[in-house]
Amino acid sequence: MKTTTVAARNKAQPTDFGTRSFPTALVNVTNACNLTCKHCFVFRDDNPNSARDKMNDETMLEQLRILRDKHQIKSMLFMGGEPMIRRKLVLAGLKIFERPAIVTNGTYGIPSVPGCLVTVSLDGPRELNDAIRGEGVFDKVRESIFARDPDDGTIVMLQMSITRENEAGLEAFVEEVRNWPVAGVAFTFYVPTRNDASGQGWADLRERDPVIERLIELKKNNPNRIKANIGALKLMLSDVALNYTGTNGEHCMMKATLPLYMGDGGNFERTFCCYGNDVDCSRCGAYSVFNTAYHRLELGQEEYHHRLNYARKAGNVDR
Ligand SMILES: C[S@@+](CC[C@H](N)C(=O)[O-])C[C@H]1O[C@@H](n2cnc3c(N)ncnc32)[C@H](O)[C@@H]1O
Ligand code: SF4
Ligand code: SF4
Repeated sequence: MKTTTVAARNKAQPTDFGTRSFPTALVNVTNACNLTCKHCFVFRDDNPNSARDKMNDETMLEQLRILRDKHQIKSMLFMGGEPMIRRKLVLAGLKIFERPAIVTNGTYGIPSVPGCLVTVSLDGPRELNDAIRGEGVFDKVRESIFARDPDDGTIVMLQMSITRENEAGLEAFVEEVRNWPVAGVAFTFYVPTRNDASGQGWADLRERDPVIERLIELKKNNPNRIKANIGALKLMLSDVALNYTGTNGEHCMMKATLPLYMGDGGNFERTFCCYGNDVDCSRCGAYSVFNTAYHRLELGQEEYHHRLNYARKAGNVDR
């Protein structure tokens, strides 16, 4: 009897997300997390994020394969919650996709996955990071980074999510991790909710501009260490940023990414965008939005407008 139930569940079809192609996707393999970071979008009220909602490994791998084939997914970002809580599942899931990647809080050690990108989150030097991510987290992550074999072929990057609370530590962070055995340091900026009261966001885009200018300077002084395009950072400045986001995501290239959240009863649900359901696009700080737009601009106008129309369509459908 038990065997039949498990077999039936394993054959369950994934939620229907239409027939569109999604070259990129992310999956929250678990809603569980050992940290409670102040800025985290995953655990906001409007998102599917109950730790009770679970899908077993076999079912998830099967559903991911089906979704990969249906939507032509090439890149998959394994995320959570904390994805390394389900290490075995993640390691098996990486094998399903052409371009897999993981983003982790680094407190469970860094997985050895040659050829794969592992982004490790740290939000500033010790004091500022721990004020956001929790006491002792900086040292734990540092230990994980130094404990791994730096020659195992895994591409390990650090990522700082810049918020109003930790912006002061930008330069100190780059200095602090200068000699760490990682491939580089990436940055993204806070994505707020529409009525954000977290204290992590800037009042408006203009107030954020000086921080972007500081990051551009840092990039100029550390061209190889900092993984950011100056061209993309310039698109984040207040005089042009809305051209690449819209007030409601209508210009956002990231709308072509399928966000798979773990929802009711352990079924995949998609949210408005990767950052969940309640987001203020007019103050979006997702570096990937602007970097994608930057590369699209470089692709040429025709291809750019083709993809922009696609993004607009997706935006209209979803909100
Ligand atoms: C949601 S976490 C999930 C993976 C893992 N638990 C971690 O912390 O890396 C993925 C990334 O999103 C970033 N992040 C969380 N909330 C954010 C927000 N509101 N705006 C921008 N980035 C955010 C985190 O700092 C982290 O780098
Ligand atoms: S570790 Fe990641 S998922 Fe967990 S609370 Fe922090 S940002 Fe969110
Ligand atoms: S990623 Fe796109 S849709 Fe999501 S908040 Fe940013 S601009 Fe809006």
